[in-house]
Amino acid sequence: MRVDLVIKNIGKLVTCKGLGRPKVGQEMNEVDIIEDAYIAIRDGKIIEIGIKNDYKKITNSYTKIEDAKGLLVTPGLIDSHTHLVHGGSRENEFSKKLSGVPYIEILNQGGGILSTVNSTKEASSEDLYDKAKKSLDRMLEFGVTSAEAKSGYGLELDTEIKQLNVAKKLDKDHPIDLVHTFLGAHAIPIKYKENHKEYIDIIVEQMMPKVKELGLAEFCDVFCEEGVFSIEEGEYILSKAKEMGYKLKIHADEIVSLGGAQLSAKLKCTSSDHLMAASEEGLKMMAKNNVVANILPATSFNLNKSYANARKMIDLGVALSLSSDYNPGSCPSENLQFVMQLGCLGLKMTPNEVINAVTINAAYAIDRQNEIGSIEIGKKADLVVFDAPNVEYLMYHFGVNHVDKVYKEGVLVVE
Ligand code: NIG
Ligand code: FE
Repeated sequence: MRVDLVIKNIGKLVTCKGLGRPKVGQEMNEVDIIEDAYIAIRDGKIIEIGIKNDYKKITNSYTKIEDAKGLLVTPGLIDSHTHLVHGGSRENEFSKKLSGVPYIEILNQGGGILSTVNSTKEASSEDLYDKAKKSLDRMLEFGVTSAEAKSGYGLELDTEIKQLNVAKKLDKDHPIDLVHTFLGAHAIPIKYKENHKEYIDIIVEQMMPKVKELGLAEFCDVFCEEGVFSIEEGEYILSKAKEMGYKLKIHADEIVSLGGAQLSAKLKCTSSDHLMAASEEGLKMMAKNNVVANILPATSFNLNKSYANARKMIDLGVALSLSSDYNPGSCPSENLQFVMQLGCLGLKMTPNEVINAVTINAAYAIDRQNEIGSIEIGKKADLVVFDAPNVEYLMYHFGVNHVDKVYKEGVLVVE
């Protein structure tokens, strides 16, 4: 048997082994740890996991052997909700935010998402590419090996396509694998403020079919929120998207409890994201319909809002994933380790629950559970070596980057 690479001397190998469905309840607290382990890799995939020196039975002089120096190894982290490609930044709104002007009010004054829409329209594809590449480099440094990337800063066909094309090119060029989401329903452009229907028709009749035809997005997402898209509008857009073959995501119950959680359950969305204001009824429906709750605690932190009720979600049997929501407004940070630390410090999740939420459950949130999210035979050799003695340490020692090395499909990409 040919073996390209063996990573030996892994102090603790956290496999996050799957169960054939997202982890819920007590399962979220189980990570499966193998001590003094090795991983054997061929063609970028994991072909064997064992202990001590047993790898010597399968290697020959061509096999590269790397030493994990007794450190902690986890699956590559997955950032399952980002607004990766956009123009400009919004530090000009920072003092308004600090003085307490609400996020939605800044948007209604023509700032917020709409200001990034203008910067994204003005930016060339090259500018967007360079800026997003810098963000991907940062994510990789923090241990992220796969991410989702949304459009939604065009709000008209050409700019939405420009964003999605940039993300496609980055997927090819950069070690991080990207999953693409069309978010034309991210805000109402000012000229349609009094006529939502006209903009929604453009999304459904022009943008969604074109994006589908060009193969630029696998998921469709809607920002359902008071003053943005209503539940009825969201349902209409997402139902049409489903008919066209998109998988579904939704920004649900972030600020006001509108019933986004219920809608995500009704439409069987792959994930329902934010959920700070989700009702118990909505969460129960999500649990029943296997919708992953994708929680974004760095957004709560940055907007100075309450955290989602993760403990209740876990008690109700909802599968949780955690992600950054990286965007220039509500979360200008690519640091998924900080998100993990907030998972413990803000959401009161256990370190084990957090690790599952950024690996195996995050893989379910982007429908990649068969390829990534756990260290198992047949999966991609996407691995993070952390300079940490155990999982708890990653969350306890906060605000720093614990990465020692990152492997993407068996290739050393951060050292
Ligand atoms: O997920 N909530 C809506 N969209 C983003 C924010 C985008 C922005 O402010 O530019 C979010 O938080
Ligand atoms: Fe978002």
